[in-house]
Amino acid sequence: MKTISIGARAYAYDDVGEGVPLLLFHGFPFTSASWAAQRSSPPRGFRLLMPDHRGFGQSALGEGVSTMEAMAEDALALLDALKLPSAVVGGLSMGGYVALALARLDPGRVRGLVLVDTQSLPDDDAGKARRETVATDVLANGVNGLVDGMLPKLFAASTPAAVRAPIEAMMRAQTPAAVAAAARGMATRTDAKDLLARFAGPTLVVVGAEDAITPPEKAKVMAGLVAGARLEVVSGAGHLVPVEQPQAFKALLESFAGAFGEQPPKKPPFVAALNE
Ligand code: MLT
Repeated sequence: MKTISIGARAYAYDDVGEGVPLLLFHGFPFTSASWAAQRSSPPRGFRLLMPDHRGFGQSALGEGVSTMEAMAEDALALLDALKLPSAVVGGLSMGGYVALALARLDPGRVRGLVLVDTQSLPDDDAGKARRETVATDVLANGVNGLVDGMLPKLFAASTPAAVRAPIEAMMRAQTPAAVAAAARGMATRTDAKDLLARFAGPTLVVVGAEDAITPPEKAKVMAGLVAGARLEVVSGAGHLVPVEQPQAFKALLESFAGAFGEQPPKKPPFVAALNE
């Protein structure tokens, strides 16, 4: 992995493949190693930039709550460091929330969206309360209770143990401080409906047919908000399509790469300025 410094903080990322830059953000509580299949066999047409969010993997934790905006700011600092004016921006689950936060913060840098096993809705009050319970519990007792609760919901029934095991190990290796900060950050995220309704760039929405955390109905709602969005429901996958069905995911990205020209568009692909 490579590293940049954001202030005094290390921010680690993988950089593989050639073509249109595609930021891929991992979910919660994973690391960029959840993109291992994409790292070893990148899709034709994309240069994949896959960071570890603050506190996860090899990136240092920031101050306070890890909001989706703070994680998005880190990724914008990476684009600056790499002198990339824009990128296609995507992520899985919490990574999708970060992608949407980045599009709101700096729409001019977003050429397209890849939203995988995620949703555009914020937490309701009960969801926010659950996040706080998770945060307090992991800080007091470690991450194993959270991991034990998530594992039964993560994978399709047919996903083999050999695919599940490294993901479980990755989750158990994350620090309580990073997990609590991100759980509290997710609770603060906003509804992305207005943002998606104004987005006019190429958009790929992918969901596992057996995703029990962000099910296909949520993906359909999200795809329905963006004019021309492509929705793909992948069979034999739960909440982790890129991990469970890497070949299908690669094929989807390769066909999506055709939506982008050599040069970034002169105007950001929003139908109206976001602050109008
Ligand atoms: C994730 O996979 O990133 C999480 O399940 C997202 C969430 O808890 O909302």
